[in-house]
Amino acid sequence: MAEYDYDVLIIGAGPGGYVAAIRAAQLGLKTACAEGRETLGGTCLNVGCIPSKALLHASEYFDAAANGEMAKLGIKVKPELDLDTMQASRKDSVKGLTGGIEFLFKKNKVDWLKGYAAFKDAHTVDVAGKSVTAKNIVIATGSSVTPLPGVEIDNAKGVVVDSTGALELTAVPKKMIVIGGGVIGLELGSVWRRLGAEVTVVEFLDQLLPGMDGDVRKEAAKIFKKQGMTLKLSTKVTGVTVKGKKASVTVEPSAGGAAETLEADVVLVSIGRRPNVDGLGLEVIGLERNQRGQIETDHDFRTKIDGVWAVGDVIPGPMLAHKAEDEGIAVAENIAGLTGIVNHDVIPGVVYTKPEFAGVGLTEEQAKERGEIKVGKFPMMANSRAKTNHEPDGFVKIIADAKTDKVLGVWCIATVAGTMIAEAALAMEFGATSEDIAYTCHAHPTHSEAIKEAAMAVTGKPIHI
Ligand code: FAD
Ligand code: NAI
Repeated sequence: MAEYDYDVLIIGAGPGGYVAAIRAAQLGLKTACAEGRETLGGTCLNVGCIPSKALLHASEYFDAAANGEMAKLGIKVKPELDLDTMQASRKDSVKGLTGGIEFLFKKNKVDWLKGYAAFKDAHTVDVAGKSVTAKNIVIATGSSVTPLPGVEIDNAKGVVVDSTGALELTAVPKKMIVIGGGVIGLELGSVWRRLGAEVTVVEFLDQLLPGMDGDVRKEAAKIFKKQGMTLKLSTKVTGVTVKGKKASVTVEPSAGGAAETLEADVVLVSIGRRPNVDGLGLEVIGLERNQRGQIETDHDFRTKIDGVWAVGDVIPGPMLAHKAEDEGIAVAENIAGLTGIVNHDVIPGVVYTKPEFAGVGLTEEQAKERGEIKVGKFPMMANSRAKTNHEPDGFVKIIADAKTDKVLGVWCIATVAGTMIAEAALAMEFGATSEDIAYTCHAHPTHSEAIKEAAMAVTGKPIHI
């Protein structure tokens, strides 16, 4: 009889966990995955990446019809919002994709253990009242919203909500206040602004989108203001009170000063996410967390406890689905005795608004701290495809080492920046110089030509400006 029930047991079926489970099974390991949610796919498929993109996509069409963008192209329409159908379409996308993971689990013979898992010892977990043993256990429990002290989130009531509640609103709010000008606030704020809400973003710092390149952050503020969002930067929320279906939000300058009260029908709390570790029984196995509540691992995704591994949002690094997925593949390969590696220096990040904001590698500020750099920039206004499509906002910026010309970071603002950034990530993964990109033939007319021209601008001159 086998010593353990499974070779690998993964806790959590988000992009980190389900991908690890499928790869482990593909590598011939007997695999189970515990998931407490009713459907597989984690935050990303159920209440994150997928439903938010469904609403971003649909609301973009609505906005294009409503704001005259279509009329400019000779298409005259007066849109009428059918929010129920839009929401049904979102739910349909989620259902299809989460069901797809269930199919993949069956196909690859991954056992789904339905329930929340808690450690009994380093090789045993309890799931739905049953003890299950495994030689290796991978923690992939993801993250959930960071609460704002003193502010109660009630998604069912729909007045003070987190991202899950903001995806499920059944009516367009007249006034929406977004607390936190990061990725969630700008994506979901954009959805409801496009559908007719007056959106005010309250951000503690002096710019939106922390972590992105300084130029990109400055441009983001201009673009979102132009689109009609009210931005209150360097401002903190000191309290939220709810009376019936209305909220009053008290704000004051981050550095202190006179308070002001803003009224709203919906308040979205989007001030970051924190790792899910409650109830997991980490104390039972003696696994400590760092100051940010995350589980630390080595480069192979091993924790300090023998046989226990961790990936995804629960460990340090950007909280992104593709980072979690790559770690999921790597951890399974390491458990199988292969060499699973993730290059954490080259993880693209994308904000899926219109235009999209994307970047990979170092910001100009970070690169300057490490040594001498050269920067090439090219505006989307001078890119023929963007100009033809009436999409003038944005630029591409390439940061390269001054001596070696090696590309250190690429930043794009463009309607398809999320797609364009893949080329930059590939170039950086292969250690490309800006000259390598400049001498690569890019198809015309594409937005990607702006990457080539920005690369030309690093050492010489682009053609079209
Ligand atoms: P999760 O996806 O959080 O999955 C963890 C799973 O573990 C959950 O299903 C949870 O139920 C389960 N679990 C937790 N504890 C236990 C337990 N004890 N036992 C059993 N199961 C347990 N990232 C992108 O890259 N692109 C995007 O466009 C994007 N959009 C987003 C939009 C929103 C609104 C949000 C909130 C997030 C978005 N993200 C996006 C981030 C992305 O969702 C996460 O980075 C990603 O889901 C992390 O994957 P994970 O596997 O680590 O964890
Ligand atoms: P975030 O970290 O992107 O932004 C939070 C913002 O809130 C920051 O700008 C911060 O300065 C601000 N803030 C913090 N406390 C505040 C306060 N008290 N008052 C006002 N502002 C305050 O976090 P967000 O948007 O909640 O997203 C969480 C995670 O989900 C991110 O790490 C992101 O990576 C991931 N995500 C990724 C998406 C994508 O890849 N497109 C989409 C949505 C989420």
